[in-house]
Amino acid sequence: MNEALTAALNAEIHPEAAALAGDGYDIRRAELDRLWARGRAFLGTELAIMGGAMTWVSERNLVAAISNAGGFGVIASGSMSPELLDQEIAATSALTQRPFGVNLITMHPQLLELIDVCIGRGLGHVVLAGGIPSTAAIQRIRNGGARVLCFTPALVLGKRLVRMGADAIVIEGSEAGGHIGPVSTAVLAQEVLPHLKEVPVFVAGGIGRGEAILSYLEMGASGVQLGTRFVCAHESIAHARFKRAFIRASARDAMPSVQLDARFPVIPVRALANPATERFREVQRGIIERFNNGELSQKDAQLEIEHFWAGALRRAVLDGDIETGSLMAGQSVGLVSREQSTAAILDELVDQALAAIAGRGRRYSGPVPEPSPTRRNAGA
Ligand SMILES: Cc1cc2nc3c(=O)[nH]c(=O)nc-3n(C[C@H](O)[C@H](O)[C@H](O)COP(=O)(O)O)c2cc1C
Repeated sequence: MNEALTAALNAEIHPEAAALAGDGYDIRRAELDRLWARGRAFLGTELAIMGGAMTWVSERNLVAAISNAGGFGVIASGSMSPELLDQEIAATSALTQRPFGVNLITMHPQLLELIDVCIGRGLGHVVLAGGIPSTAAIQRIRNGGARVLCFTPALVLGKRLVRMGADAIVIEGSEAGGHIGPVSTAVLAQEVLPHLKEVPVFVAGGIGRGEAILSYLEMGASGVQLGTRFVCAHESIAHARFKRAFIRASARDAMPSVQLDARFPVIPVRALANPATERFREVQRGIIERFNNGELSQKDAQLEIEHFWAGALRRAVLDGDIETGSLMAGQSVGLVSREQSTAAILDELVDQALAAIAGRGRRYSGPVPEPSPTRRNAGA
């Protein structure tokens, strides 16, 4: 199909876009905007791309940069106290007039106070992460006038969260960086997107290029969430050594944490393999041996295992300790090849999505194939 025919077809489908047509950019852009209209309206942004909250990385600078560039930045509150969160929101508001959100961890002991801080600051969106939120938490956010986004690792829970009051759902596959579930983004998207239409659904995990964004939008997503891709933004305060590790890494270096013994569960976290990864195996081995010899109770053994990674992400992100720190990263780290401005990253993603839309016309330009014998037979 040549460019003129593509334009003519587009004109038929999108007369309003055709009116704007120059080199076809406006038509493609109108198509992208149609695909993610629900996500844009929900977030109040130009692009339905959320910057996934990353503890220690997603602070005022990166969050404001993402929002200023048309995306939706999200503060990672991690283990922040209500006072610290209040300061972070105020500082972010000073850097951007655009909408941004806050990610709260459901098991934080002061969750309700943190919610009140978000409401008090007039925030429009709160993301509840790290476990199934209570109805009380969801309703407190809604009653305060903000919208609630919840994560789901499966369709059934997604439906339940919507009944509990979630205004939007994020599905995050196991390709993602940080804490992960067992199911890949590709499968989760097929499980959830065709069947969860009540609220906008955002897809996260393993997205590093615009073509992937387009494909999830075409499957019914309202928008996407990316984390790993933003770590090496100029505006990200991550230490130069942390960024360099990302730039050097390939997808296969981002591995889930290893559990040695089913009696001692390890929370699955995807991170770049480093000396700490190997050390974690040795430490687990030693602890399990001490438990087997009766030197440790099961509870103490479990606590020692959990303690291993305490403070490790902070050490890596802020201090640049890439040997003993935790280099949480998704598999899309293989697509991170240099430091760029946040605006350039978002532009690149949008351009790739637009190029994919343009390429669609070209892909269908060949002669219409004869139906295959199998299909003919099936039809007979
Ligand atoms: C370094 C790092 C820290 C993260 N910290 C959090 C967090 O505190 N809360 C959260 O909900 N998700 C966290 N995530 C997940 C991101 O918000 C996002 O959903 C994920 O990175 C998307 O997948 P991607 O890495 O393939 O882009 C983290 C991810 C990374 C890479």
